[in-house]
Amino acid sequence: MSYPITRLRRLRKNAIIRSMVRETEVNKDDLIMPFFVIAGQNIRNPIRSMPGNFQLSVDQLIPEVKDLVDRTGVNKILLFGIPESKDEHGHVACREDAIIPTAIRALRGIFSDLLIVADVCNCEYTTHGHCGTIVNGDVHNDSTLRTLAAQSVTLAKAGADIIAPSDMMDGRVAAIRQTLDENGFENTPIMAYSAKYASGFYGPFRDAAESAPKFGDRSTYQMDPANSDEALREVREDIMEGADMVMVKPALSYLDVIHRVKSEFNIPVVAYNVSGEFSMVKAAAANGWIDEQRVIREILTSIKRAGADVIITYHAKEFIC
Ligand code: PBG
Repeated sequence: MSYPITRLRRLRKNAIIRSMVRETEVNKDDLIMPFFVIAGQNIRNPIRSMPGNFQLSVDQLIPEVKDLVDRTGVNKILLFGIPESKDEHGHVACREDAIIPTAIRALRGIFSDLLIVADVCNCEYTTHGHCGTIVNGDVHNDSTLRTLAAQSVTLAKAGADIIAPSDMMDGRVAAIRQTLDENGFENTPIMAYSAKYASGFYGPFRDAAESAPKFGDRSTYQMDPANSDEALREVREDIMEGADMVMVKPALSYLDVIHRVKSEFNIPVVAYNVSGEFSMVKAAAANGWIDEQRVIREILTSIKRAGADVIITYHAKEFIC
């Protein structure tokens, strides 16, 4: 049937009809809010390139999380750490008194209904800012697996609900899974940053987490933005190694990748709406060039429509469901 019998505008006639036939709805249960936790006391450093976000010491993080839960109902968070000191391998992150395990224990003591996802990576903890141990000027894959696995166990012991490796080493999911299991954490899920691209959209995050590489870039381990067949291979590997959920990151320039991953695999797909994507919206809104709430809704809806089941986004605390 076609026009004039078919008139697609009939189902757009008014808001109530539109709401009835709407295919995609973003709700609070889909969202995860990232926070940056810094060592020390009474610290609340605004992150200039990410308006409304802060480096928070643990005492300041607690009211911020409480506000998120009370005001928006979003009860899932992702934590990144800014440590007091760094070392060549990122060993500081494996200590029980490291910044993120400390934060997790504090939150666990206060919130009963909070899902804590712990990012696992070395870049915030290494002096050189790369995601692993450097050998001959590049990140050495297999020795990095050991620090990642040790960091994961420390986080699980502190009470992390989900372990999320973001380093892009080959074989990290298997290494982490095996070490978690050996330590009695066989029920702790892994959310793998599977298709993580070497992206310019991480710029503001690296200010926030103080994790920019001191030399070179991450393109020997993160993916080339030009590739999507390769993303499917990354996802397949991670699933075979035991990933419980897979991630595509960033989100907006990679909606096709989200769609391909969701069509190919029957596993929960997470999309990371990253710092640069967030900050572009903030900058345009601050200039009065876009309607911020409307654009946020459109962005999150598009990510979900592409196939994401879960969205990590700095907009989580300001999105009105
Ligand atoms: C750590 C990590 C990064 C992000 C999340 N985990 C940065 C990077 O790979 O340089 C980026 C998140 C964002 O931009 O919001 N490896």
